[in-house]
Amino acid sequence: MKKLIKDRHGRVLEFSQERTGGLVYFKLEFNKACAAYANCQIEGEVLVLADIFVEDKCVVRHPDLLWRLLGHKTLEVNFRNQGIGGQLLTTIVVYAKSKGFRRIEGRLAEKDLGPNPDLPQWYQKRGFTVKDSQVFMNLVASPMGDSQYMPKA
Ligand SMILES: CC(C)(COP(=O)(O)OP(=O)(O)OC[C@H]1O[C@@H](n2cnc3c(N)ncnc32)[C@H](O)[C@@H]1OP(=O)(O)O)[C@@H](O)C(=O)NCCC(=O)NCCS
Repeated sequence: MKKLIKDRHGRVLEFSQERTGGLVYFKLEFNKACAAYANCQIEGEVLVLADIFVEDKCVVRHPDLLWRLLGHKTLEVNFRNQGIGGQLLTTIVVYAKSKGFRRIEGRLAEKDLGPNPDLPQWYQKRGFTVKDSQVFMNLVASPMGDSQYMPKA
């Protein structure tokens, strides 16, 4: 499954998603370079968000031919604060709902909170609940009832 998304500067990124066993990988690429990714683990009816990361120093092929001819082959791009992480998180929620997961959860690690103390608010603005160091979103239950409700993933 592939789709394109745009950041605030109109840069087009290619989205891809892959499931291998109990792991689901989400990736956004710009000019073949990884601009952002998220790794999730499947634990029964719960999709565990193990990692979500937007590159702040992504080295890409320089988009301007003239600059490339002058020897500037690559360009360092900061993809943060362009709406990419938010779109990636929304995509994970849509994926989890479509596969019948009942909950998404993750952890706020000290190493992430240190440089970004607004991380709890970042999740809250996107519909997640933050409790202590846990982040979660309960998804809509199946109309079939709990006993028959199993993820399709
Ligand atoms: C946390 C992280 C994933 C966020 O990704 P991001 O792409 O920078 O996030 P977004 O751009 O979607 O949102 C960041 C802010 O930019 C703002 N923004 C997004 N799109 C915008 C736009 N088009 N115009 C103006 N501002 C915009 C948003 O309002 C948002 O601010 P808010 O939190 O006050 O709402 C990223 O900072 C990161 O990788 N951090 C390091 C790893 C990490 O901490 N991961 C989380 C583990 S729990």
